[in-house]
Amino acid sequence: MNILIVGGGGREHALAWQSMLSPSAKQVFVAPGNAGTDNERRVNNVAIDADDTAALLDFARNNAIDLVIPGPEGPLVSGIVDQFRKHGIDCFGPDQAAARLEGSKNFAKEFCRRHNIPTPDWHTFTGLQGAILHIQQAPLPLVIKADGLAAGKGVVITSDREEAIATVEEMLSGRRHGRAGQRVLMEEFMRGEEASFMVMSDGVNILPLASSCDYKRRDDGGRGPNTGGMGVCSPAPAINPDMHERITNDILQPAVHGMHQDGCPYKGFLYAGLMIREDGSPTLLEFNCRLGDPEAQAVLLRLRSDLPALCRTALHDKLDGCRLNWDRRVAVGVVLAAAGYPGEVRKGTPIRGLNRAEAIKSMRIFHAGTRKANGHIVTAGGRVLCVTALGGDIAQARTAAYQAAADIKWDGMFYRKDIARF
Ligand code: GLY
Repeated sequence: MNILIVGGGGREHALAWQSMLSPSAKQVFVAPGNAGTDNERRVNNVAIDADDTAALLDFARNNAIDLVIPGPEGPLVSGIVDQFRKHGIDCFGPDQAAARLEGSKNFAKEFCRRHNIPTPDWHTFTGLQGAILHIQQAPLPLVIKADGLAAGKGVVITSDREEAIATVEEMLSGRRHGRAGQRVLMEEFMRGEEASFMVMSDGVNILPLASSCDYKRRDDGGRGPNTGGMGVCSPAPAINPDMHERITNDILQPAVHGMHQDGCPYKGFLYAGLMIREDGSPTLLEFNCRLGDPEAQAVLLRLRSDLPALCRTALHDKLDGCRLNWDRRVAVGVVLAAAGYPGEVRKGTPIRGLNRAEAIKSMRIFHAGTRKANGHIVTAGGRVLCVTALGGDIAQARTAAYQAAADIKWDGMFYRKDIARF
């Protein structure tokens, strides 16, 4: 089959690489892709933006695309699946109604309440007055979330009430995230260990992927601003087989059943961002309607099953009875970022040392913000690469990833030094 991956980050590079391994894959296209996908054998970049659904649809119809896998949340929340479905082209993801699980945090919270899915208590505000009253008396730290999509920048955790007031003022006025911030949620702060759990869903049944955990803060020790994710380890040490079952039974399966019951069946990848609380109970912090990034890089590096075939099974048939095979080794991914990330970054800086790192076995360098310029690979975003290594245990995988990262250089490159150091 011909496969089109939509997006241009590290997750999409991992999806394209896995798709290319499928025995049934004829050609794999990535729109728009990056320098890493451009270098993959049997993978072609297509110069179409991930949000340009009309152009993607044209391309799919003209190139006999059999399966589309959107990577990022934007196109899913905007209804890319509905558009492709109208034209009879398989597109693996939730439709617009189901993607509200990520597109509106308030929708997700009310959904959790209706279906008894454990999640922190919250209050929703559209007016500044009520929000300020809440900030003045709520326990610290405060967790403030923009309701809509905010490019991974919609969550602020602060113990400073003045900063909290300034944050909600900016969000509610539309200055910070436009319409996405004009409704805010304030949520009870949860302590514990964070983990990510992703499944494939056919609308009724779920097929759990391997667990993982990412590192959301920019700096070592979990300090600094929130990012899209600075590193990853799969499996997540906090998720033993009992916890795996509990998360499946208490959170993911009820979510898929709930969406079915509510009349908007959820097909696609579903991501649960979890807090494993100090008493050992898993609580849902957020749903995402796609794979995590960089979680996908570590999890897909370990996958030994035919991913595109499973996507089609989920769309046309049932996933119960399917199983996934995994490389039993641990995968650790270290994100190499450009100076300034998660704020403004300089682009176009040449990257050195990639060939040496890419020659190492049991390792993939998944590209994110890269492009080719005059025959060189240069930076093109904040998160630039995810150096992802397999090892017999966490320490081996971590050592391999950091050794390879040390070979790669560009002006202003930085990375966390404590990924998978439990
Ligand atoms: N790494 C977190 C996310 O993809 O949302």
